[in-house]
Amino acid sequence: MEVRSVTLDNFRNWRHLELELDTSGTTFILGNNGQGKTNVVEGIYFAIRNRSFRVPFRESLILDGDAFLKVKSEVFNQGRRFDTEVLLQRSGDSYFRVNSKPLRSFQSLLTSFPAVVFQPEDLTLVKGGPGIRRDLLDELVTMQGKKSSSTVSLFEKVLQQRNSLLKQVHGKLDQDAQNTLAVWDDRLGNVGEELASLRENVLTELSKWLVEAYAIIAKESFELTLAYRRSWTGDLLEALNRSRTTDLQRGTTTVGPQRDELDILIGGKVARYHASQGEARAIAIATRLATILFLQQELGTTPVVFLDDITSELDEKRVKRLFDSIPKAQVLVTGTFLPKDFNVEKVLKVEDGRVTAAIY
Ligand SMILES: Nc1ncnc2c1ncn2[C@@H]1O[C@H](COP(=O)(O)OP(=O)(O)OP(=O)(O)O)[C@@H](O)[C@H]1O
Ligand SMILES: [Mg+2]
Repeated sequence: MEVRSVTLDNFRNWRHLELELDTSGTTFILGNNGQGKTNVVEGIYFAIRNRSFRVPFRESLILDGDAFLKVKSEVFNQGRRFDTEVLLQRSGDSYFRVNSKPLRSFQSLLTSFPAVVFQPEDLTLVKGGPGIRRDLLDELVTMQGKKSSSTVSLFEKVLQQRNSLLKQVHGKLDQDAQNTLAVWDDRLGNVGEELASLRENVLTELSKWLVEAYAIIAKESFELTLAYRRSWTGDLLEALNRSRTTDLQRGTTTVGPQRDELDILIGGKVARYHASQGEARAIAIATRLATILFLQQELGTTPVVFLDDITSELDEKRVKRLFDSIPKAQVLVTGTFLPKDFNVEKVLKVEDGRVTAAIY
């Protein structure tokens, strides 16, 4: 999969930017702090995802003082061409179109435009709360096909419905509410069990790649393992019945996949609490590398890879090892300096609101 060109209008600090991109090998986007390097790769990502990898609220992407942004890209994947177009307005309608049509589903977006981003914030994959790790698993589950993807979305929907009922009744169940809750319990029990198994299967696959990736990056003898920890034991429906009183008191569902944990263990200890900064960083980077390898196997195409500011995160040896192990389809890197012994096909210099091809 590769992005051949991108046009940004009113995106972050870019009033208008047109870029033709090399479709294979590494392009290094070089420039001083604050020049707009990350904004360029964020813009490319936005063109194929309709969201940012940095912020949850898209409005901050619109050039300050402007009413809208527009981003277009030309993408090729396994011989097929896709033209994407995003319009985002502060007020009024926004759209995301692929080949002039609205998108069919999030699943088709993920599988048509596979992309993996490495960024300094990835440390939260290891050190942050479990939500971010569950999201990673759910994204991989979603990519596995229509059935898996509908399990993810159905689970979210049923959970929301059960939670809003629990909130509405303020701890008191009349007959009607009791019947409705029984229906939601039943559905949540089924779809929750299904989701947990799908996540467990993905985890088993990802594990294999992660162990390999960590060995490449860190060259440490510590053993890295992943463990999925369900928030209930036995049957989910029974667990929901057992937790009903607590759930009613709290006005929310306290057992189920939304409370599950994905433990990353290093030398048998939970990395979230025990890993050093350097170890956590290597694990986070290895997780992204493992995701690339996993997607390559699942989708039969190499995702486009974005490495934002990675050279500030790792020592040179590790950067080099990471680089040598990333499958080279299309790789876009940002940084303030070009590391030594770095194989790059192209350097783009970002300065004073312009991007120019640099000779190095
Ligand atoms: N919506 C916006 N409108 C205008 N400017 C913006 C907007 N959002 C961000 N910026 C500006 O874009 C500039 C460049 O941001 P960016 O994060 O791309 O820099 P960078 O080159 O990656 O820097 P660093 O090397 O520090 O990571 C910042 O000065 C920021 O204030
Ligand atoms: Mg940056």
